[in-house]
Amino acid sequence: MPGPAIVVEQLVREFRKGPRAVDGINLEVSPGEIYGFLGPNGAGKSTTVLMLTTLLPPTSGRASVGGFDIVHEGAHVRASIGAALQEAALDAILTGREHLMLQATLQGIPKATRVRRADELLERVGLVEAANRRVGGYSGGMKRRLDLALALVHSPSILFLDEPTTGLDLQSRTALWDEVARLAHDEGMTVFLTTQYLEEADALADRVGIIDHGKIVAEDTPAKLKAEIGSPTVEVLPADLATGDAIAEALGRFGSPTRGGRGSLTVQLPDGEAQLAELVRVLDQAGLHVASLHLHQPSLDDVFLAKTGRKLEGAAEEDPDATPEETTKRSRRRRGR
Ligand SMILES: Nc1ncnc2c1ncn2[C@@H]1O[C@H](COP(=O)(O)OP(=O)(O)O)[C@@H](O)[C@H]1O
Ligand SMILES: [Mg+2]
Repeated sequence: MPGPAIVVEQLVREFRKGPRAVDGINLEVSPGEIYGFLGPNGAGKSTTVLMLTTLLPPTSGRASVGGFDIVHEGAHVRASIGAALQEAALDAILTGREHLMLQATLQGIPKATRVRRADELLERVGLVEAANRRVGGYSGGMKRRLDLALALVHSPSILFLDEPTTGLDLQSRTALWDEVARLAHDEGMTVFLTTQYLEEADALADRVGIIDHGKIVAEDTPAKLKAEIGSPTVEVLPADLATGDAIAEALGRFGSPTRGGRGSLTVQLPDGEAQLAELVRVLDQAGLHVASLHLHQPSLDDVFLAKTGRKLEGAAEEDPDATPEETTKRSRRRRGR
């Protein structure tokens, strides 16, 4: 595909009785790239995905997906994309295979190839054993994998995943990460994925856009975003509390250490983690013993904190736009998955 897979320019969505859910965002996603859209509850992730998948008209701005305008060429956009959305409706009384057959029919897959396509996808997402069981008995992880298979039925070139792993246990989460990474790296699929988990954005995304209150506050590769925050810090726990001052003095050559709980001392390594060896040598030469050393690399959470003044984890609870009713509805949905 020539040109970018997704282009978004000054995209805005206002709700009549609500906030500016999406407030003038710009972004570009290259073919075969995994773009992670990271932000807390209520940030505007789903609203963005709904616009890019043509399910919700923008208030202003423009966007193209697969080279097609989302407002004027909706049918072409829909033919190029697959989407697994947060509100995905699976029918509890249908089996996994029946869902896939139905979707294949809706997508106009010829009758002769429908069964083969369903089998292929069941195999790919690891639902062969459960294929003929009703979805009502599936676990949250199995439902998400079926959602993914359904989005892939017509072999789209661009895939939208809205919080595909929210509420899943770590094992189901990493299984889904592997599959998404394989789709992008082996098949060149473009993936636009929203998440509120920084580990997910970090592990999976080639590039991350951090969204907060409808605005993109930072965008780059995870490595560059973290590098921008600065160098790593080392937390030193003295073996003997009485040596705390001596250790603080020895660490002084790297910067001024801050004191934490249990007598710990934390200092930033201005030249990066390579200085860890020097730090150990300095302490050793001074005859100072430590109980533990902990290297802390900047995380995407530190990036979010630096850009917004809040921690990403738990940021939703402080979201002034979220009504209590919405918050309950959301957490119920998360638990139910
Ligand atoms: N249909 C709607 N009507 C009014 N406000 C809405 C509607 N959908 C979303 N919002 C509001 O828009 C903001 C962004 O929501 P959303 O895009 O769902 O965020 P996210 O997916 O990042 O959790 C929130 O403040 C939310 O309450
Ligand atoms: Mg959402």
